[in-house]
Amino acid sequence: MRVPAKINLQLSVGPLRADGYHDVVTVYHAVALFDEITVSPADRTSVEVTGEGVASVPLGPTNLAVKAATALAKATGRRGRAGSGASAPRSRTGVKIEIRKRIPVAAGLAGGSADAAGALVACNELWRTGLQASELAEIAATLGSDVPFALSGGTAVGLGRGEQLTTALAAGSYSWVLAFGATGLATPDVYAACDRLRAARKPGDGSSAAKPPELSNELMAALRSGDPVQVGPLLSNDLQPAALSLQPLLRRALAAGKEHGALGAIVSGSGPTCAFLASDADAASELAVGITGAGVCRAVVQVTGPAPGACLVDSGIAT
Ligand code: C5P
Repeated sequence: MRVPAKINLQLSVGPLRADGYHDVVTVYHAVALFDEITVSPADRTSVEVTGEGVASVPLGPTNLAVKAATALAKATGRRGRAGSGASAPRSRTGVKIEIRKRIPVAAGLAGGSADAAGALVACNELWRTGLQASELAEIAATLGSDVPFALSGGTAVGLGRGEQLTTALAAGSYSWVLAFGATGLATPDVYAACDRLRAARKPGDGSSAAKPPELSNELMAALRSGDPVQVGPLLSNDLQPAALSLQPLLRRALAAGKEHGALGAIVSGSGPTCAFLASDADAASELAVGITGAGVCRAVVQVTGPAPGACLVDSGIAT
């Protein structure tokens, strides 16, 4: 499976809920930066990770891809089931998951969610469970708020925790530059910092902390036009002040992008990746060179969006 990273074109965050989450209104946008997930039958479930940021990826049962395989096995009653025919060998109930990471870890790009989505769809194919896409999406939502979007990709509005998706009417293709930070940010830390910043604001100073989040009609109209010049200034992220408070150097990355002609510059999700919109691929190349030269981030990549969601590259299964 090949599964994309996401950025958030809008991320509006409501107050903290009783369950520890925040209601959000977000516009997800999948970009062409992919992790690759391969699964094969095994007696025990295991995971192997290679590539970008592997040292910080857990390899045990807390790995999100392992959780995805376990959740699917449980949902389909697979655990411990014997082979079908009398002479069939006992079916191998585990799965070996291999993840080749290109999406940085703890970067605000939903890389862990991508791996979970990939493992879910891959195991679904391997085990021929016959589950519908909607059933897979339900399991995905139990794994993480961004996992359902990693399944579907494209550009979509997310409500609730982010898991309730509606496809957005978005035209055209967009050229982005992503600037990766030197160290990651944990999503719960960034949401907690957002709550703290809001609590510290004086009443009556225009804080939107208590307001329910709303979809930006201006952004949706700009996306329908397919014009990056319209979309750029409408990018917004309520978590950005929190991410900047935890990593103040990100301000310099955002400033460098604007200085080098970005149409919009924003922290992606909970950060620390910064996403910069360019008018086309040539402008994105120039922007990438400018941001790299400014020396304000670990690495810079150029990507396009929207990208498709989790998709099968090679089934390896004879049909
Ligand atoms: O859903 P996921 O497991 O990715 O969320 C990780 C953490 O991010 C949650 O435990 C919560 O602290 C925070 N979060 C939130 N509101 C959301 C999504 C995530 O507070 N809508």
